[in-house]
Amino acid sequence: MDELLEHFERTIERDQRIEPRDWMPEGYRKTLVRQIAQHAHSEIIGMQPEGAWITRAPSLRRKAILLSKVQDEAGHGLYLYAATETLGVDRAELTENLIEGRQKYSSIFNYPTPSFADVGVIGWLVDGAAICNQVPLCRTSYGPYARAMIRVCKEESFHQRQGYELLMTMMRGSQEQRDMVQDSVNRWWWPSLMMFGPPDGDSPNTARSMAWRIKRHTNDELRQKFVDMTVPQAEKLGVTLPDPELKWNAEREHYDFGEPDWAELKRVISGDGECNAERVAHRRKAHEDGAWVREAALAHAAKKKGVAA
Ligand code: 3HC
Repeated sequence: MDELLEHFERTIERDQRIEPRDWMPEGYRKTLVRQIAQHAHSEIIGMQPEGAWITRAPSLRRKAILLSKVQDEAGHGLYLYAATETLGVDRAELTENLIEGRQKYSSIFNYPTPSFADVGVIGWLVDGAAICNQVPLCRTSYGPYARAMIRVCKEESFHQRQGYELLMTMMRGSQEQRDMVQDSVNRWWWPSLMMFGPPDGDSPNTARSMAWRIKRHTNDELRQKFVDMTVPQAEKLGVTLPDPELKWNAEREHYDFGEPDWAELKRVISGDGECNAERVAHRRKAHEDGAWVREAALAHAAKKKGVAA
């Protein structure tokens, strides 16, 4: 065992990839299953908030863009479930874990989307935060996860740009449209900061995940990167970020910002957010409604196998 552990640790130290057939400590495998499954669940649940606007998009162009974005999220979920399956877990089991509340998905998707401006703000802020979090994951130590991230990040930058362009258009519109954008920013700014997880001092997993180079930066480092990236974009857009403590700190060469409401994050993660029940119920119904497709595919595969034998 020592030799195997030594080889594993040397591979990590050399910033080389661990592949599915390599020996790995059980804790490393479990951490990967936990994080990649949660990431996949987030992509799939994340289809709901914007999906609700596909039939109500204000133009064919906006509908086409939103359709392709939501389809991308489904694809991201599939890549990530496929990456999780290389660790010996089954997709059906993962879906059960999500529906039964045994595994998490990102808190951000438990907030409502009452206006079309939310589609733009989700693209700009939520996908922008996802980019900050996912680009470093292209260098995560587990091969299948890192490779899944490369394509995800390419598509994520389209998501972020289409959202920002939508908001730019609205900000050049009527006062009512500008107010709609500002209201949406007010509702999504703090939950977007919470996407990066609790503060490092309250993160039970970060130290271990950093040592295994699963995570390449801490929660607070990525949150700071997101704030620094987003403040100039907000100024260009002409919106105010709802944080009176937000200001440039020339000494730190970063923006200082206020403290997110960590009690709210805890509440939303534990299932008590505005849309948790609705999101999980919708996922359960979609899974149940799709049972016949899975059964038909299995029956067809068995028949084909029977014929082949
Ligand atoms: N929502 C839900 N749960 C969260 C959370 C959040 N925003 N932040 C932290 N948690 C959970 C963690 O999962 C962990 O619980 P667990 O041990 O039961 O899994 C607990 O709170 C403590 O947090 P830690 O910081 O110790 O946990 P991690 O080291 O796993 O860090 C994370 C949390 C930063 C979300 C990390 O898991 C991660 O980077 N995951 C991969 C990326 C990801 O999931 N991104 C967000 C959603 S995907 C997305 O945005 C799609 C885009 O298309 C919009």
